[in-house]
Amino acid sequence: MRPTALITGASRGLGAAIARELAPTHDLLLGARSPEALSPMLEELPGAVGWPADLTDHDAVAAAAAGIERLDVLVHNAGVADLGTVADTTAEVWRRTFEANVVAVAELTRLLLPALRSANGHVVLINSGAGLRANAGWGAYAASKFALRAFGDALRLEEPALRVTSIHPGRIDTDMQRDIVATEGGEYDPGQFLKATTVAGAVRGAIETPRDAHPTEVVLRPIARS
Ligand SMILES: NC(=O)c1ccc[n+]([C@@H]2O[C@H](COP(=O)([O-])OP(=O)(O)OC[C@H]3O[C@@H](n4cnc5c(N)ncnc54)[C@H](OP(=O)(O)O)[C@@H]3O)[C@@H](O)[C@H]2O)c1
Repeated sequence: MRPTALITGASRGLGAAIARELAPTHDLLLGARSPEALSPMLEELPGAVGWPADLTDHDAVAAAAAGIERLDVLVHNAGVADLGTVADTTAEVWRRTFEANVVAVAELTRLLLPALRSANGHVVLINSGAGLRANAGWGAYAASKFALRAFGDALRLEEPALRVTSIHPGRIDTDMQRDIVATEGGEYDPGQFLKATTVAGAVRGAIETPRDAHPTEVVLRPIARS
C-alpha cells in the first residue's frame, strides 16, 4: 500500500514543489484555499486529490479532515508573511499571521492525530530561517515561526509514535519571495534564493530517513547568502 501525504498550500510555490517531489511514491491530498487554486496541480498530477479549505476556518478544516483515517505524512507548508516593523504592525496583522502560521497548524494537527498515530506518521513543519533568528522588519513573521518551532518541540515529546521535523529554509524563489522583494524594493534575482525543488528534496530526505533516526531540524541557507 502506498503511503498517503497531505500537503497544505500545495497550489503553488514550495507546496507545489513538495507535491511534485512526493507524487511518484505517495498518494497525495493537496491543500489550498479553493478548488480553483488547485486545478493546475490536479491536472499536472492526475493521481492527486484536492483538499480545499481555508486553514483559518476551523469548521471547514474539521469537515475536510473528518474522512481521513490514516495519514503517513502531514506537511504543514501553507503560511503567510506580512513584513513590517514593530512600529507599523497592527494587532490585526499579528493575529492574521499567528492564525495562519501557528493556530491553523495546531488545529489541523490536533484533528489528524488519530490518523497520524495509526500510521506512525511524520509531521513536517515548514518553518524558516526566521524561526531561528529574528531580523528587523520581520517581527510578526519571525515570532510566528519561533512559535511554530516550539509547537513542533512539544508535539515531538508528547507523541512518541510520530516523527516531527522542522525545516528551516532561507529565502526561496516563490511568489511569497517576489512579494517580499517588492516590499523591500530592489531587483528580483532568483539566483540569490533557494530553489523550491531543493527544499522539496530536503522534505523527502527527512521522510525517508531510516526509522532509527529522528530528523528533528533541517536548516538550508541559499549558497549565495550563506
Ligand atoms: N518563500 C520563501 O522565501 C520562504 C522561506 C522560508 C520559509 N518559507 C515558508 O514556506 C512555506 C511556503 O511558502 P511559499 O513561498 O511557497 O508561499 P506562497 O508562494 O505564498 O504560497 C502559499 C501557499 O499557502 C496557501 N495558503 C496561504 N494561506 C492559506 C490559508 N489560510 N488556508 C489555506 N491555504 C493557505 C496558499 O494557497 P492559495 O493558492 O489558496 O492562496 C499557497 O498554496 C510558508 O510556510 C513560508 O513561511 C518560505
